[in-house]
Amino acid sequence: MKLEGKYCIVTGGSSGIGYDLVKQLLDQGVHVLAVSRRAEKMAIEHECLIKKNFDLSTKTAIDEMFDYAMEAFGQIDLFIANAGFAYYEILDYSDWRHIEDIFRLNTLGVIYSATKMKERFKDSPFNFMVTASAVSFLSMPGHALYSSTKAAIRGFMDAMQLESQKHHVFQTVFPVAVKTPFFVRAKQEHLPWPVQSSEHVAKTMIKGIKKDKKRIYPFKLFKYSYLLLPWFFVIYVKIQTKKFFKIMRRRKEE
Ligand SMILES: NC(=O)c1ccc[n+]([C@@H]2O[C@H](COP(=O)([O-])OP(=O)(O)OC[C@H]3O[C@@H](n4cnc5c(N)ncnc54)[C@H](OP(=O)(O)O)[C@@H]3O)[C@@H](O)[C@H]2O)c1
Repeated sequence: MKLEGKYCIVTGGSSGIGYDLVKQLLDQGVHVLAVSRRAEKMAIEHECLIKKNFDLSTKTAIDEMFDYAMEAFGQIDLFIANAGFAYYEILDYSDWRHIEDIFRLNTLGVIYSATKMKERFKDSPFNFMVTASAVSFLSMPGHALYSSTKAAIRGFMDAMQLESQKHHVFQTVFPVAVKTPFFVRAKQEHLPWPVQSSEHVAKTMIKGIKKDKKRIYPFKLFKYSYLLLPWFFVIYVKIQTKKFFKIMRRRKEE
């Protein structure tokens, strides 16, 4: 997709990867609607930027966001479903609301938004991108719910790519670990290796949009090593699991 002059929604634009995406899209001449619960507090000011608060964990809010974008822009060429969160925890209790909350934002809202784009823009071209995660492939200890929300998204996006016509481009991004407030919000004290910057991830995403890439791997080595070095990931997950139980034991003692 050629970016200049296009109209775009970025969800989760107030922080981390989304924040850098908004900055870089504006540099490319894109009109951006940045959305999150606290988007209106974003420090960026630009004539092509609209900031709007929406809690995207409900159908009603997503419908309102689409109506708002159509009123402001008249069209949506690019939708980046980037808002998401994780809990770092041991799932040794049952709490329906807790499970529902993460699926609502990370999975259901993304699926609903993608179907809305297809319904509204049947005959017009658009790109729909989602920030999934490396955990879409590789479940991590402490992230049973998060890993499952992102694995579900990978399955959904793969099928959407197969079902869609050429003028609808579905793009999935698989970051590994990115230095953003994500880990603090998840209550995960340690960052997994390797850590990348949100600027780098946003840059890779923009490159991917320009090339209409279906799958985007900000950490290229992950793509190849996941296929070629499966033993490395067995060891990696073992180390993470050890760390996880140590942290959970400490949490219980506190
Ligand atoms: N950081 C990583 O290592 C990593 C790795 C792989 C994938 N990812 C994925 O990348 C995406 C962006 O994460 P990040 O690392 O940039 O984390 P982040 O800095 O915590 O950003 C998350 C964004 O989501 C928004 N958000 C959270 N709940 C929301 C809600 N209910 N409604 C609307 N917006 C909401 C937040 O804004 P408000 O608080 O203002 O609502 C924020 O802008 C997520 O989908 C995450 O799963 C991150």
